[in-house]
Amino acid sequence: MPDSATIPGSKAPSILQLARMSQDPHGYLREQHRLYGDVFTVRLPGQHVVTVVANPDGVRALTTGGYDEIARNAEGIRFIMGDQAIIFQQDAQHKETRKLMTPPFLGERMRAYGIEMQGLADAVLSRFADGDHRVLHKDMQEITLSVILRCIFGITDEQRMQQLREDIVGYLDGVLTPWFYAATLILSGARVRDFLRRRGRRMLTPGRTPSRWPVQSVADRLGAIDAVLFDEIARRRRLSAEELGQRQDILSMLVAARYDDGTGFSDEELRDQLMILLIGGHETTATTLCWALYCALTHPGTIEKMRAEVQSVMGDGFDAGKIKQLNYIGAVSSESARLYPVAWGIPRQLKKELRVAGRVLPAGTLCSVSVFHTQRDPRVWEAPDEFRPERFVTGKASIYTFFPFGAGVWRCLGAQFAEYEMRVVLARIVQTLDLTLAPSMPIRPLMRGFTMAPSEGLPVRVQRRRAVEAAA
Ligand code: HEM
Repeated sequence: MPDSATIPGSKAPSILQLARMSQDPHGYLREQHRLYGDVFTVRLPGQHVVTVVANPDGVRALTTGGYDEIARNAEGIRFIMGDQAIIFQQDAQHKETRKLMTPPFLGERMRAYGIEMQGLADAVLSRFADGDHRVLHKDMQEITLSVILRCIFGITDEQRMQQLREDIVGYLDGVLTPWFYAATLILSGARVRDFLRRRGRRMLTPGRTPSRWPVQSVADRLGAIDAVLFDEIARRRRLSAEELGQRQDILSMLVAARYDDGTGFSDEELRDQLMILLIGGHETTATTLCWALYCALTHPGTIEKMRAEVQSVMGDGFDAGKIKQLNYIGAVSSESARLYPVAWGIPRQLKKELRVAGRVLPAGTLCSVSVFHTQRDPRVWEAPDEFRPERFVTGKASIYTFFPFGAGVWRCLGAQFAEYEMRVVLARIVQTLDLTLAPSMPIRPLMRGFTMAPSEGLPVRVQRRRAVEAAA
């Protein structure tokens, strides 16, 4: 590992840096930038020292560089993901997998997904009653998880969806705890994950129920998820090419996809890709939705403008074919993702030396390209701390000033899918509900697993909008 001694940064013990980062990520990141400048180190337990790059030229180089200059480093999440997931692949192998996995996420298919997304959002929102207090993050998670299970995995059986939702939430709640985190530091993420997968294999036999013992129960949840994933893969494999081609779900397209040499994904590869789509796709979208609602609810007039836009584009009904016309709603989600990105930095490893802000970062340096600092940098944004969705209505930001979905050849594969889904959910919320923030503690960003999420899960009070519902 290259010497990071020449890069300034806090000398506080890694455990203290982690505690500060977990409790007040915005405050800690701002403070470190103020103290040490555009390039500084952060040290978290069990990880190599990471060099944060918050300098516009450095960010430009890192967000526009490709396989020759940079590698992606996703080691921090290996303990919840299989080794063959696209996120761990490098160079030619990554390029090949991207080629296979990109088409299902593009184009006209979004409209069919839009209708499913609306139905799944409505199913959750219809449970909101006048005077209810809701923790929005939980509701948004339920919607985004159902969307993945329906649109990506193609699961339509309600009972199977419900069981899988419970197993996924149970598994993530279990594994994203300090105990498991400590175990990954001592034993390595891959060992902890392999241990859980071995212990969970018994769930591949039908009829098993999860254990009550904490560690075995986490393993069993993972085993139960695997059992459904392998079963769904096997069901697709039994279909003829024609039947497979008629299905809309992304799993069917991945089963049918072929590399240039005519081979396709193996079952294990497919399982690992499904896990990254599942874990990478639902929590991130749910949290981004919460921040969009938080910004809209705390800036008077925003909700009314969103509502007026839906009314003028769709009237009192809903038309998934017109989602792309909801420009202001799209701008609200972009502007809130600028101020509150769920991933504060994108992890990279240099293949070649990089000179930035008068410093030399040698090949091998682990970097975090700072989404948080760049998206609030007064050198690239006017009034950077103000919520002004209009800036995204009238202009398009460049990839090196706005990159909540990452950048370059590694940019989020589900970005278009997520943007579309967020417009659907936000449109349905403003059409059918009047929400107000619950008068609890002020909302602030906290680290939740690998995302920066609103504290308290964003509690709100609910009033239904009956006139619109009656007309719809
Ligand atoms: C608002 C929601 C989302 C956010 C903020 C987000 C953010 C990110 C980020 C920051 C990365 C790393 C990119 C990089 O290293 O440059 C990433 C990668 C990825 N995301 Fe997302 N994501 C979201 C939703 C989704 C959804 C809905 C899916 C799929 C259903 C998805 C699938 C993926 C995949 C497969 C990768 C790895 C891409 C690759 O290795 O080439 N994400 N995402």
